[in-house]
Amino acid sequence: MHTKTKSSTSGTGSDGRLVVPACSPETISRLTRAGTPAEGIVGEIRARWVLKGPVEAKVVDSSAIVGANLLASFDLSKETSIQPTTQAQFAKKKAADEVMSELQMLQTGHMPGRKVVLVSEVSGGLVGCAIISMKGDGRLKRVPYIESIARNDPYEHAVLRDCATSVGAITLRATVEAVVLEAGGTVPEMFARVRLFNRPSHYIFKELEFESRSRLVTETQQVIVVRTAGLALPEPVGEKLYMPLRRA
Ligand SMILES: CC(C)(COP(=O)(O)OP(=O)(O)OC[C@H]1O[C@@H](n2cnc3c(N)ncnc32)[C@H](O)[C@@H]1OP(=O)(O)O)[C@@H](O)C(=O)NCCC(=O)NCCS
Repeated sequence: MHTKTKSSTSGTGSDGRLVVPACSPETISRLTRAGTPAEGIVGEIRARWVLKGPVEAKVVDSSAIVGANLLASFDLSKETSIQPTTQAQFAKKKAADEVMSELQMLQTGHMPGRKVVLVSEVSGGLVGCAIISMKGDGRLKRVPYIESIARNDPYEHAVLRDCATSVGAITLRATVEAVVLEAGGTVPEMFARVRLFNRPSHYIFKELEFESRSRLVTETQQVIVVRTAGLALPEPVGEKLYMPLRRA
């Protein structure tokens, strides 16, 4: 597990990583994006530290995960151990519980036929991951479905060197790219379910132009978020920050 120093002074943490005060105040203020990410939800990105180098992303078949240790370092225990007292905490915990349970099923071969996105620091650490079902959720829709997405706990509140892109956001970008790649290069409609009060999740989906279909709140308090077919991705953040997704 990585350790990082949270410091109120500019400079590097004990592991050599830049802590966010090394970004200028202007940059940090840019971390607070305009707009209302989800109804009734406002806030400031709580970026605390900056990755030192670029991240890279790959998409693999779920069969490559079974019995392998590709996800061994993945940890959401900070969220799964929350004792919720607010709706936001409840949503965070439930979402993390679901992600960990799906990753467990994936690793034991109980989620065949999926695509798995792995985002890592070029220097090694697993930053984030996602599970995609290209055939939909078997219920509501038959278009690609992002079943799970999460960033690894050691990377909570981390941003790329642009001081603006969270690791969760870059993991979602890689996931959308993976859907496009697996769809043969055209951008299909795709969707995900986001818990109503899972604020960090709403931010990243909103940034990539997933729209909340707020009429479709399920019994589990999840909002369906949909990305329209044909919608191009925003400009890439550049290879110094993020190496293009590849199939492995
Ligand atoms: C959803 C997730 C991937 C987002 O990752 P991330 O963008 O790297 O963000 P972090 O979790 O490190 O949190 C960043 C903080 O900045 C806030 N933030 C992020 N983007 C923001 C923005 N554009 N504007 C304002 N605030 C923002 C977040 O709300 C969060 O604040 P909080 O801790 O007070 O809630 C991550 O929170 C996660 O893995 N959660 C557990 C699993 C999960 O919920 N998956 C989604 C299922 S749909």
